Amino acid sequence: MKRKFFIKSTSNMSDQQTNSVIELAERPSGKPDKSTFRFREIEIPKLQNGDVLLKSLYISVDPYMRGRMRDVESYVEPFELDEPINGGVVAEVVESKSSGFSVGDIVQAQLEWKKYQTADPQNLQPVDPDLAPISTALSTLGMTGLTAYFGLLDIGEPEEGETVVISGAAGAVGNVACQIAKIKGCRVVGTAGSDQKIKYLENELNIDKGINYKTTENMREALANACPNGVDVYFDNVGGELSDRVMELINKHARIVLCGQIALYNKEKQPIGPRVQLQILPKSARMEGFIIFNFADRFEEGVKQLAEWYNAGKLNHKETVTEGFENVPSAFLGLFSGENIGKQIVRIADPKN
Ligand SMILES: NC(=O)c1ccc[n+]([C@@H]2O[C@H](COP(=O)([O-])OP(=O)(O)OC[C@H]3O[C@@H](n4cnc5c(N)ncnc54)[C@H](OP(=O)(O)O)[C@@H]3O)[C@@H](O)[C@H]2O)c1
Repeated sequence: MKRKFFIKSTSNMSDQQTNSVIELAERPSGKPDKSTFRFREIEIPKLQNGDVLLKSLYISVDPYMRGRMRDVESYVEPFELDEPINGGVVAEVVESKSSGFSVGDIVQAQLEWKKYQTADPQNLQPVDPDLAPISTALSTLGMTGLTAYFGLLDIGEPEEGETVVISGAAGAVGNVACQIAKIKGCRVVGTAGSDQKIKYLENELNIDKGINYKTTENMREALANACPNGVDVYFDNVGGELSDRVMELINKHARIVLCGQIALYNKEKQPIGPRVQLQILPKSARMEGFIIFNFADRFEEGVKQLAEWYNAGKLNHKETVTEGFENVPSAFLGLFSGENIGKQIVRIADPKN
C-alpha cells in the first residue's frame, strides 16, 4: 500500500459525530447475554501529536473473547470490568498527526469497541483496499485465516489423499481449513450445526461430506461412513462429545489439531469425557494444541500464501455481516448459537473514500 510520509494534521470529521463505547458490565456465569455488555456515550478524544484518530469500520467478534470475560490468567489478558472490550477492528484514519498515516488510510489493529478512538501508529497494520475487501483483514486474510493455515499445515501436516475431519467446519476458521485441506488434495469431512451450513460446505466449498451434528442421530455411524479409511487429521474447533466420536476413528500416526473447544466455553464445570490417551497411545498419534500467536514471526508468510490462493480464485472468503455498532453484542452472542456462516463481523461504517 502506498503510504504518504509527510506530517499533517488533516481531518475529514466535517459533520458532528457522536462516540460510543461497549464495556464489560459483568462477568457472565454460563452463557453470556445482553446484560454482559454496557453501552456508554463518550466524547470523541482529542488528538495528540504523533497519533491518529480512527473511525471503526468493521469489528470482529470471536469465541476466544468468552475466555477473556473470566478473571483468570490465560494466554491473553482478561477484559477488565467496566472497561471497554477490545478485539480485532478495521478502521479508517479520519485525523492524523502522524508521519506514517494519512487521512483515508485503512488500518487493522487490536482496538477497543468504540466508534472513534485515538491510537499510536506503531500498533496499526495498514490494510490494502486493492488486495481484497477490507473486511477480509479480519477473516480469510487475517487472524482466522492464519489460524486455519498454520494449525492445519504446520500441526496437522495433511498429505494428499489423507482424510481430514474438521469440526465447526462452516465457521470462520473452519471454512478456511476446509478449503486449504481441499487445496492439498485431501478427503475432507466437515461437521456443522445446520442444513444450510452443510449445503454451503458440500456445494460451495466442495468438501467430500458434511454432517449436521445437531440432527444426526448416530454420529458414530455417520462419521464412520464418511471416513471409510479412518481419520488422519482431526482439526478440532469444537471439542465435547463430537470430538469423542472422531477420536474413535483415528488412524496410526494421526494428528489431532486442538484449535478450539467452543462446546465447553460456557460450561462452569467441565464434563469428564473418555480418557483419550488410550486411543492416542496405540495409534502413535499426536494431539497438539496451539495459539495462533505462536506463529507471529511467520504471519507475513501466511498472509502471502492466503492472498495468493485468494487471487488465484482457490480460496473464497465467507462472512456473516451484522449491521451497526448497537448490534456488536448480539453478533457475539450469536457465535454460541451458530448464527454465522464464515466469519462473523459487524459493519459499523463505510470508509469515506
Ligand atoms: N487456537 C487459536 O489460536 C484460535 C484462533 C481463532 C479461533 N480459535 C478457536 O477456533 C474455534 C472457531 O473459531 P471461529 O472464530 O472460527 O468461530 P466460528 O466457528 O466462526 O463461530 C463459532 C461456531 O461454533 C459453533 N458452535 C457454537 N457453540 C457450539 C457448541 N456448543 N458445540 C458445537 N459447535 C458450536 C457454531 O457453529 P455450528 O452451527 O456448526 O454449531 C458457531 O457458528 C473456536 O473454538 C475458537 O475459540 C482458536
